[in-house]
Amino acid sequence: MRTQFLQAVVLMLMTSAQMATAQTTPYQVQGGNKVDDATLAGWRAWRNAACERCHGPNQEGMVGPSLIVSLRTLGRDDFKAVVTKGRVDRGMPNFDGSRQVMDNLDGLYAYLKGRSDGAIRPGRIEKMD
Ligand code: HEC
Repeated sequence: MRTQFLQAVVLMLMTSAQMATAQTTPYQVQGGNKVDDATLAGWRAWRNAACERCHGPNQEGMVGPSLIVSLRTLGRDDFKAVVTKGRVDRGMPNFDGSRQVMDNLDGLYAYLKGRSDGAIRPGRIEKMD
C-alpha cells in the first residue's frame, strides 16, 4: 500500500517535470532528426547564412565559439541581439540584412538550443510527422 502510494507520487513528480520541460523547450523533436516547422526553417536559415563557416558544421566552434556551449547560457533575447547586430569588431557579422535569418530568428534559436541540449542530432534534419 505504502509502496504504491510512493510510486504514484514519483510518477506525478516525473510527469510534472516533463510538462515543465515541454513548456520551456522552444523546439519539438522526434528521434533526434525530425523537428517542427519553425525549427526546420531555423536550420535552413543556418545553412543558407553559412554560420558553419565560423561556428563549424556541427556547431562545435571554429573561429567562432562553440554554439553547443554558448546556448547553455545564452538566452533567447541575447541570442537575437547578437545575431541581429553582430559583434563586428570581434568577427561576428550582423545579419540584420538577411531576410531569411531575421524572419527565422526564433527557429534558429530553437534549432541551436536543441543542438546544445543534445536533443537534435548534427547534420540533416527533416519535418516531423
Ligand atoms: C565570419 C565568421 C562568423 C559567421 C559567418 C557567423 N559567426 Fe557567430 N560569431 C563569430 C565570432 C568570432 C563570435 C565571437 C564574438 C565575440 O568574441 O564576442 C561569434 C559569436 C556568436 C554568438 C554569441 C556566442 C556567445 O557565446 O556569446 C552567436 C549566438 C552566434 N555567433 C551565432 C551565429 C549565427 C546564428 C550565425 C549565422 C546566422 C553566425 N553566428 C555566423 C563569427 C561568425
